[in-house]
Amino acid sequence: MKKVVAIYPGSFDPPTNGHLDLVERGSKIFDELVVAILRNAEKDPLFSLADRKRMLEELTSDFKNVRVDTFDGLTVDYAARVGAKAVLRGIRAISDYEYELQMALMNRKLHPELETVFMMPAEQYSYLSSRLVREVAQLGGSIKDLVPEMVERRLREKLDPAIKLQNVRKSRTGKRS
Ligand code: PNS
Repeated sequence: MKKVVAIYPGSFDPPTNGHLDLVERGSKIFDELVVAILRNAEKDPLFSLADRKRMLEELTSDFKNVRVDTFDGLTVDYAARVGAKAVLRGIRAISDYEYELQMALMNRKLHPELETVFMMPAEQYSYLSSRLVREVAQLGGSIKDLVPEMVERRLREKLDPAIKLQNVRKSRTGKRS
């Protein structure tokens, strides 16, 4: 039987526990799941595309049927290039629905064969978004439990380059913060 490939497109700036929850759910129902990071020149991302790809690769390395890629242009065209039959998107609350429905229907208009599959992340992530994580971290709040430890560390380093220098020094001397 033919493998069902799905793409999970997004900005992932940064990846959150909500994203990983969805990757895990998606990996269970699709034969192959491609986490596809949009290369969007218009937005001014906090993390470079290469950083986001590296983080997602590390965070999803336990899922053998998940890979990470980047794309630009239309999501439907990218889906066709990788032979995907479905687009996976997360819906957290009713407020997401209108935007997601609009996108799903536009994608259907552009490429009628491509299905959008909505999945709900675990309730504890229902209020979580990359934008809020960036804002809270930038204003000095705790983002523990909202993003993986590695992302938390990278965010702290990004927002305070002095911490990065400290960590580099510690890793040279064998210590870790
Ligand atoms: O994580 P995000 O920012 O909510 O993801 C939005 C994304 C990347 C799925 C959406 O902006 C997208 O598909 N962009 C690619 C361009 C495109 O296909 N636009 C038409 C969508 S209807």
